[in-house]
Amino acid sequence: MKEALLELRAKALEGLKSLRSAEELELFRVKYLGRKGLLSEYMAQLSTLPPDEKRVVGKLANEIKVELTEKISVGESLLAVVTKVSPVIDVSLPGLKPHRGRTHPLVQTIQDIKEIFGRMGFQVVSGPEVELEYYNFEALNIPPDHPSRDDFDTFYVSDDVLLRSQTSTVQIRVMQKQKPPIRIIAPGKVFRPDTVDARHSFMFHQIEGLMVGGSTAGEGVNFGHLKGVLSLFIKTYFGPNTRMRLRPSFFPFTEPSAEVEISCSLCKGKGCSVCGGSGWLEILGAGMVHPNVFKAVGYDPEQYIGFAFGMGVERIAMLKYGIDDIRLFFENDVRFLSQF
Ligand code: DAH
Repeated sequence: MKEALLELRAKALEGLKSLRSAEELELFRVKYLGRKGLLSEYMAQLSTLPPDEKRVVGKLANEIKVELTEKISVGESLLAVVTKVSPVIDVSLPGLKPHRGRTHPLVQTIQDIKEIFGRMGFQVVSGPEVELEYYNFEALNIPPDHPSRDDFDTFYVSDDVLLRSQTSTVQIRVMQKQKPPIRIIAPGKVFRPDTVDARHSFMFHQIEGLMVGGSTAGEGVNFGHLKGVLSLFIKTYFGPNTRMRLRPSFFPFTEPSAEVEISCSLCKGKGCSVCGGSGWLEILGAGMVHPNVFKAVGYDPEQYIGFAFGMGVERIAMLKYGIDDIRLFFENDVRFLSQF
């Protein structure tokens, strides 16, 4: 009887493959699993068997019943979905594997950076993407004739409204609202009318940082603190052997200003095509908050002192993961995204 059951199972599985409609599937179900179906016939005969055989055969009959019930229900759902597309369907095919989504590499990068600065006590804040010209330029000590104010470098909505071209705007918004001590980072989108290529995008992400304290010894914030905070960030994010160097630079909203570079992660400082042979890669701008910026928010520059920094998220992610084209982040090709 065991053999007969196994043969029944094989036949059923074979028969399942040729089913093409819900009606055929229902007939199939009645034929094998119905109250007067083939399987019930065998079940009815179980009582005539000696106890040992009865147990084995009973178990097998049950397993076949469960298996066929499952296959039929899968077949029903498949038919429900695909009969419209194709009336011919192999209902014995295994189910479709659902695609699992994952975090976008830029979201992940921002998350990782937030976490590192969070451990150093920096709070995460945000500001508007559509901004007043005042916050993007004037309050940041950027003179009226500065080239970055040009139509070519900023998207204007109207005379004094624009899409922010830097997250430094958030420094002003935060300082207007609260008095020191301040320790914030502000991640977000920025916009610039650049022609899209491997290194440029008209929208990208920045993370701004700002720390302000009083001018007295215990509360003061100095250039050494800036170096310490950035060095800890760099070593945590890029690895403990990454070196950092500061080079004098200029930003209207900081004085003194520095360009921060890390040893090239690819060639470890020997010089390669990624670092242009220098062994160093620029990753962010930083400096001590300019007195005019404090004046713009009503802080007395004699009383407060602070540092600020700003970095491009895409650039950081590209350096960390060895990505050579910024457009990959925005094309959303799952073959790219699923690697992170
Ligand atoms: N806002 C600058 C930019 O978009 C980056 C920057 C440089 C931010 C120096 C800062 C800073 O806060 O201190 O290029």
